[in-house]
Formats: sequence, C-alpha cells, structure tokens
Amino acid sequence: MNYTSVHDIDSVSEWVDEALALKKNPWKYVELGKQKTLVLLFFNPSLRTRLSTQKAALYLGMNVMVMNFGSEGWTLEYKDGTIMDQGTSEHIKEAAQVVSQYADIIAIRSFAKLEDRIEDYREKVLNGFVRYASAPIINMESCIGHPLQALTDAITIREFVPIEKPKIVLSWAPHPKALPQAVANSFVEIMVKGGYDLTIACPEAYKLSPEVTGSVSYNHDPEEAYKDADVVYAKNWSSYEQYGQVLSQNQKWQISHAKMKLTNNAKFMHCLPVRRNVVVEDAVLDSKASLVIEQANNRTFAAQLVLKKILEHDSKKIDVL
Ligand code: CP
Repeated sequence: MNYTSVHDIDSVSEWVDEALALKKNPWKYVELGKQKTLVLLFFNPSLRTRLSTQKAALYLGMNVMVMNFGSEGWTLEYKDGTIMDQGTSEHIKEAAQVVSQYADIIAIRSFAKLEDRIEDYREKVLNGFVRYASAPIINMESCIGHPLQALTDAITIREFVPIEKPKIVLSWAPHPKALPQAVANSFVEIMVKGGYDLTIACPEAYKLSPEVTGSVSYNHDPEEAYKDADVVYAKNWSSYEQYGQVLSQNQKWQISHAKMKLTNNAKFMHCLPVRRNVVVEDAVLDSKASLVIEQANNRTFAAQLVLKKILEHDSKKIDVL
C-alpha cells in the first residue's frame, strides 16, 4: 500500500474520523511500529512535514532515519538505458532498491522544478521510487500533489468548522516567486472526493489543471467569491497554462481583513510557510479566525493515520503468508 495521492483515500470522512480518534489517544498504537523503520528522503526544504512525520512515527513506536537527499545524496539518473557519462552518479533503480534495504516505509519530498510542465507532471522521482522500491511509498509533497497536507486540511475543517456543508473558497493569493500547484491540486482533490462545496477564486490566468478541477466552479472576482464563505483557504500557485510563470501580483487578491468581513465569519487556512502582508495581512493571520497553527498540529495526525494504515496493511499481508 502506498500513499502517493488523495486518490489512495477510500473514504475521506472515515479517514478524518480515524485521525481525530488518534489525536485523542496518540500513543494507543505505540506497539504497532516497534522494530519498523521509516526513512524520510528530502530533495527540498521542510519544517512541518519533516517534524510532524517524525512525531507521527514516534507515536507508533517506529524508528526514523532522515536524509537530505537533494544536498547530500548522489545526483540521480532517471532515464532507462542512459550512458551515464555526464552529471548523474547513481540510477534511481539502484537507489530505490538500496533505500528499501534499510526501510519498512519510505517517504519522499520532491518538488516541481516549474520549467517543463510535462516533465514535472510525470513525477519522475516519486514514480521512480514507486516503481523500483520494495517498501511502501508516502508522498511528502511531490511535483503535483501534497496529499498529507490535504488530509490535514480535511481533518482541520471537520474539527474547527462545525457546519454540515461549509462553503469553502480556495483563494489564490499573490507571491513574488513562482510556486508549485501541488498544495492546491491536492486540496481540490480532497474537497471533491469528500463532497464539499468548493469554489476556486483566482485570476483567469491561474486556472489549475482541468484534470484536477473537473467541474469545480471558478470565480475571478475575489469580493464576490468571498461572500458567505465559511472557510477561506489561501495559497499561491504559478500559472498552469503559462507554466511556472508569475503573471500577476495584483494586491486585490491579498487576503485582507476587509475581504474576510464579506464572509460568514470564515476561518482562514494556509498550509504554511506564508509571507506576511504579501499573501495575507497580519490582521487576518493573527486573528482568532486563523487555523494555521491548528493545521500544523494536525499534520502529525494525518501522517500518523497514513503510517498506521500502511503498517496494518503490511502486517495483514504477513499474516496471510
Ligand atoms: N506545509 C508544509 O508542507 O510545510 P513544510 O514545507 O515546512 O513541510
């Protein structure tokens, strides 16, 4: 069993229930991961994912090994049949199999490079590990998805927005740098899978992949989009059509106190890290409406649930053998 995308969740509401039960009693399954090792491979920086996933593993009694592969590992080759006489030192075929000798579960972070959409959406790092590793794989944010963050967000909405069918607005916000679409993609996917009322608010040029959004409605007027919202989930992403480009820094899209007043006392969410007074005003981030620290806390229980499901799945396989 792998957890590489939101599509690996069979029932969003059942997973959310289970994660909230873990949060109430996080040490309950401390025997489950005894003598099991989780290896975390980071090709990119992290604060929340790195610490919360380790904390989750500790709650399950696992050992954890962490490697900053991007700065400390050999440069990997991904193409089959390449004559490796240039810059790459080790093929993904060996690397994934070698890591599998030390790991019962492998978790990987590898961001989009934002240079070539086809190349990024091919997910060569994540898919390379899925193909060649013999251990289960967890996606800790890949080029096109961040399913641990999305599960966290569904947990946080259930916990802090006690409305049967809340109106959720995923709002693009300005940012000086080009950022990937991964968080937004997985957020849309989990909202759709969970049957939420979702609107994407963004400039016309920032529509996400049609394969991800399907029939989700867009609104290109932020003030209109915010009306009656119960949750405003802010995120920047760079253009999908003009791939990786920053096409707008229009401040009318900044999450402001004035725009939040148009909502139904909406909660403010963001996966973090966030640029203060660029993406969102201090007045919103520091307000009681902000759930960003609660989201960071829930990263642990999303990761713990995923690890628990993989450990249970693998122990069932051993029982059958
Ligand atoms: N939200 C999130 O994934 O944070 P990090 O990049 O710090 O892990």
